[in-house]
Amino acid sequence: MSMVVKRAPHRLGTHRVLEPSGAMPQNAWRLDNSPVAFENEIVCDVDVLNIDSASFKQIADHCGGDADAIGAHVLRTVRERGKQHNPVTGSGGMFIGRVREIGTALRARIDLAAGERIASLVSLTLTPLHVAHVKRVDVTTGRVWIEGHAVLFESGLWAKLPHDIDESVALAVFDVAGAPAQVRRLAQPGQSVVVIGADGKSGLLSCAQAKARVGSGGCVIGLIPDGNAPSARILREAGIVDHIVVADAQDALEMSEAVRAIAPDLADVVVNCVNVPNTELGSILCTKDRGTVYFFSMSTSFTAAALGAEGVGKDITMIVGNGYAKGHAQTALQTLRDHPRIHAYFHERYAPHTDASKGPQ
Ligand SMILES: NC(=O)c1ccc[n+]([C@@H]2O[C@H](COP(=O)([O-])OP(=O)(O)OC[C@H]3O[C@@H](n4cnc5c(N)ncnc54)[C@H](OP(=O)(O)O)[C@@H]3O)[C@@H](O)[C@H]2O)c1
Repeated sequence: MSMVVKRAPHRLGTHRVLEPSGAMPQNAWRLDNSPVAFENEIVCDVDVLNIDSASFKQIADHCGGDADAIGAHVLRTVRERGKQHNPVTGSGGMFIGRVREIGTALRARIDLAAGERIASLVSLTLTPLHVAHVKRVDVTTGRVWIEGHAVLFESGLWAKLPHDIDESVALAVFDVAGAPAQVRRLAQPGQSVVVIGADGKSGLLSCAQAKARVGSGGCVIGLIPDGNAPSARILREAGIVDHIVVADAQDALEMSEAVRAIAPDLADVVVNCVNVPNTELGSILCTKDRGTVYFFSMSTSFTAAALGAEGVGKDITMIVGNGYAKGHAQTALQTLRDHPRIHAYFHERYAPHTDASKGPQ
């Protein structure tokens, strides 16, 4: 653990930046993760990290899928950087924990007390984190149970855990909450929407919001890599897609031709929710002229997207997937409440051993 740096506390957390000088917490190499709350901070005892999917896949591939090696990798990163900021993918994740201490200047201004359980809604890439011990790693979900603590700045977003949804499910949903909220804004009645990686966390929630927005006059196409995976069945059963396309998003031509076979004019909105690189061009080729691609994926390369669109002569709008949109956490939870089939699937996958009474009602 590093020493507390004596610097005036700033609402954006710059007082926690150790190096390089002038950096913000997100792009800093190393943060001060001391477990003492400055006057405008919240310190939490952390139980579990939800490592962002692109990051977890990269770490898991690097460690040959071995849970102990993944745990040791996370521990090394956090010891070196004072935060879980994957230097390869540049992405982080979120945590669930219990509030240990609230700084004196914040106490009266927020509806939160020591002892309450919360989930962070800001990335682990900017969250000071200390891990004393990794207890368990779940390779299938990217969950890492730890003993440690984290610090939220005054500007940091958090949410109290809901009473009607299991907290493991809530964590999975909060991690990707930006996607369904942005899709809700982007998709318009009557439009065609393609969701790439439709059977993942953000993909399922995005399909649900897209279908609700485009209505019966519009069309939602869910693109998945494996038509027989259990999650493909959920897409059908939940009624949130009009068509399913089985294709490899890294094969730009195969994917776009498969989409064109269903939507000859291509899509008004393409939502990229995959956790692998090299899918920019396929997303661009699925989009109609003056349409929009929303790159939620953390594996997106700005260079590949910008030069790729220019190279194939596509006049389209490309949006970087901001993880935050006003009300995003509530939109994401409501999506589960509105879709019991999706809620049940999230419960089976992310909280298989917990009380189903906090599953879908
Ligand atoms: N912008 C933000 O603020 C933000 C926040 C959180 C997460 N993210 C990023 O958003 C992305 C999705 O996250 P998530 O949690 O929803 O991930 P997820 O649950 O792991 O879903 C990813 C999906 O992509 C599919 N996929 C993988 N390779 C594919 C391919 N070649 N062709 C077609 N589909 C493929 C996966 O299918 P299989 O499971 O069958 O491989 C899976 O269904 C990740 O890149 C994550 O890092 C962004």
